[in-house]
Amino acid sequence: MIVAVIGGGKIGEAVARSIAKSQAVEKVFVTKRNITTLKSTLQSEEKKIFVLQDNKSAAKDSDLIIISVKAGDAKHVLADIAQFASGKIVISLMAAVSIRKLEASLPNSKIVRAMPNIAASIGEAITAYSLGSKVKEKKDVDEVQFILGSFGDYVEVPENLMDAVTALSGSGPAYIAVLIEAMVSAGLKVGIPRDIAFKLVTKTLTGTANLLSQKKSTMHPAELRDLVTTPAGTTIAGIYELEKGSLRTSVMNAVDAATAAAEKVAKKFEEAD
Ligand SMILES: NC(=O)c1ccc[n+]([C@@H]2O[C@H](COP(=O)([O-])OP(=O)(O)OC[C@H]3O[C@@H](n4cnc5c(N)ncnc54)[C@H](OP(=O)(O)O)[C@@H]3O)[C@@H](O)[C@H]2O)c1
Repeated sequence: MIVAVIGGGKIGEAVARSIAKSQAVEKVFVTKRNITTLKSTLQSEEKKIFVLQDNKSAAKDSDLIIISVKAGDAKHVLADIAQFASGKIVISLMAAVSIRKLEASLPNSKIVRAMPNIAASIGEAITAYSLGSKVKEKKDVDEVQFILGSFGDYVEVPENLMDAVTALSGSGPAYIAVLIEAMVSAGLKVGIPRDIAFKLVTKTLTGTANLLSQKKSTMHPAELRDLVTTPAGTTIAGIYELEKGSLRTSVMNAVDAATAAAEKVAKKFEEAD
């Protein structure tokens, strides 16, 4: 299979790197307007990746197309590839651009809207996706899941949840990074050297997430919290301060605000011609 990634920015480069690792993928074309830096790094590191400026030829010579430009560049890019995307699966990673808009620009393509996150660069993204009206056959759904699976895990969602997904798991790595910074600072405050605190915090985070999300686990986060919280112990002293500082409400407010911001941008693009 040959894949074109239109827009080799942060997320485009991340997914291209992971897709190229799959044995079933023969080549990955990555396009950009300014290719100088990406061409010298990406092409020398990943032998299956070819960096170019020409969206048309990338779309023409590929079996499946991924769009990862900013929503503001969508119109131009969709016009570029329309003629060559006919009959092909087109996976848009763009926030704010609806399936309706994509299908209007690429009426003969099989549209999928997806929202990954930056952990795609190490094959650890979670991607929420919604299928367009032309993706019905099992072989097409399998192909979509194969591509999304090459850069992490995936889950299908109704399209009306996409702005909320953008706010929760699309932006999520940034929230987690803030939390990690805060916990490393906390470690420093109680006398733990920075490098050791970083290792303790990141491994605690991934270990806890893995413990809760492993397939056989039915453990609710509250159960895990209770399991390690003993009466008058150290953990409850810490949790008391977290609750006093309204961590829970802050997180809910953050995702709420990010969803509202995503909805505002989506509305702007939906109303544009
Ligand atoms: N970043 C994330 O964590 C994340 C997560 C999920 C989804 N997304 C979505 O992914 C999309 C890209 O986000 P990003 O963060 O990767 O942005 P980015 O780093 O700015 O990348 C966008 C890329 O698109 C390229 N581009 C713009 N116009 C083009 C054109 N006409 N032809 C070919 N390439 C063109 C740009 O190339 P030049 O630099 O050469 O102009 C740039 O490399 C957005 O729609 C965003 O909503 C991002």
